[in-house]
Amino acid sequence: MKTETVFPPGQGAMSERDIDPLLDLEAEINRLKREKNAVILAHYYQEGEIQDIADFVGDSLDLSRKAAQTDADMIVFCGVRFMAEVANILSPDKKVVLPDAAAGCSLEDSCQPEAYAAFRAQHPDHIAVNYINSSAEVKAMSDYIVTSSNAEHIINSLPKDKPIIFGPDRHLGAYLNRKTGRDMVLWPGTCIVHEQFSAREITRLKDSHPGALVAAHPECPEGILEVSDHIGSTRSILDFVTTNKAKEFIVATEQNIIHQMQKSAPEKTFYPAPGADGSCNCAQCPFMELNTMEKLYLCMVNEAPFVKLPEDLRVKALRPLERMLELSPPATKSAAAAE
Ligand code: 13P
Ligand code: SF4
Repeated sequence: MKTETVFPPGQGAMSERDIDPLLDLEAEINRLKREKNAVILAHYYQEGEIQDIADFVGDSLDLSRKAAQTDADMIVFCGVRFMAEVANILSPDKKVVLPDAAAGCSLEDSCQPEAYAAFRAQHPDHIAVNYINSSAEVKAMSDYIVTSSNAEHIINSLPKDKPIIFGPDRHLGAYLNRKTGRDMVLWPGTCIVHEQFSAREITRLKDSHPGALVAAHPECPEGILEVSDHIGSTRSILDFVTTNKAKEFIVATEQNIIHQMQKSAPEKTFYPAPGADGSCNCAQCPFMELNTMEKLYLCMVNEAPFVKLPEDLRVKALRPLERMLELSPPATKSAAAAE
């Protein structure tokens, strides 16, 4: 059975019904931030208003580093549950709250701890590398954790003669096999957002915008990556569209990142990559979108939902995360400047 790591608000906690509709949420969140010495960390897939009120917006690796380094008393994690768990693993003396405890991830869901334990047991001589989009229990069974921005670098640093199992994202794993020349055994998970894009529709969109470049996340299937001009983590995609001379981009990742792109390069045009029916609604993560400004305010008032891992699990999950931080390339200039 999965270990409980996220705890809901207790009895008497304030709920959405109690929020005065005239309340200035932005001002209240900023007041609570000062009062509680809190830091708000947000992923690029959060709605624009949440990105704008955050102290730091980043990709999974940037956010892990921030969570490990902060001197705030409370970390308010606007992303999904596994990210808040990572914050608790790396900063156990901080209170880690999140707007919605139900904000999961299809990759994490695809890789239940019991099934992963059996997979690991079938490959006793393999190094176990896992994507950060996994539960704390699966992390605790891993040798190394990686994100999309450091995976290639970390896998290249592992002994060439040692076989590897990689989970839970089979598209990221297959991409890394192609890039590193390894033959990692892959867990069959996928991201429900990135597997929706259509290479045919992207090519069609490109035909009507001949100058547009395609930037894709490696969670996309191979067919999408084949029609892409740049492949990388959310941070790397943002850097690419900001620094490249092209004026138009097709963005094959969660569409809320376009908010940050428009802020960084307002003179450029960004098109969300379409799905098979030609629409772009498929590019919204249903887990990330559970978080709202109201829930962000409430989790700061209630100091819940909060994440607290049992100490033995936390310590086991910490080791592969620490290895990841040690082996990661240094933060990019843009990541360091994003505060
Ligand atoms: P990165 O922000 O590390 O690129 O990951 C994307 C993602 O899917 C987060 O859930
Ligand atoms: Fe998980 Fe995909 Fe949502 Fe990221 S975008 S949190 S990988 S479901």
